[in-house]
Amino acid sequence: MRLFVALDVPGAIRVAVESLIGELKPLDDPWKWVRAANLHVTLKFLGEVAPDKLAGIVAALRTTPTSGPVALKFHGLGFFPNERRPRVLWVGMDAPQSLIGLAAAVEAALAGVGFAREEREFTPHLTLARNKSATASPKLREAIATLSARQFGMMDASTFHLVESRMKSAGPEYTTLESFSLTR
Ligand code: 2AM
Repeated sequence: MRLFVALDVPGAIRVAVESLIGELKPLDDPWKWVRAANLHVTLKFLGEVAPDKLAGIVAALRTTPTSGPVALKFHGLGFFPNERRPRVLWVGMDAPQSLIGLAAAVEAALAGVGFAREEREFTPHLTLARNKSATASPKLREAIATLSARQFGMMDASTFHLVESRMKSAGPEYTTLESFSLTR
């Protein structure tokens, strides 16, 4: 099973981002756009995991130290890994210390049950679209520059989730396996 740990985003933010996707989609063809229902903030990607590891993962996440709800404010757009090789288009967010701390605590909890720590620095984002060819049309680039000041809303995350991703012909299907409170 393919697993990741993520924060969910509320409906109002999904609507704002879906409207943005609707504006950007016609500007460039090769991009694969994320369905609004699938938008999430990944805290840790576990990859392919043997099902017998699941109970240990859940137990580790249940004991992850937390420090209350995490306030997020979504704004800003950008490309991973960078503008010259645009493979992922994302919406950014203010990254309060509480979010950085939560991602680090999840990393540490999962390192304790054998998952390698992420080498790259944690860069919180909402993936909007992916493009294996790593190109972006001038129109898409221009629109993104114009949209740099748009706000997509705020939220207080009070739970994080262990999610299973299954590849379907219509794209990935995500199922929340367990949720963990940040207000323990
Ligand atoms: P992202 O979209 O937030 O960048 C579920 O597949 C999620 O795990 C994806 O949405 C992606 O997060 C992240 N993910 C997928 N493959 C990954 C990989 N090889 N390395 C790191 N994160 C990955």
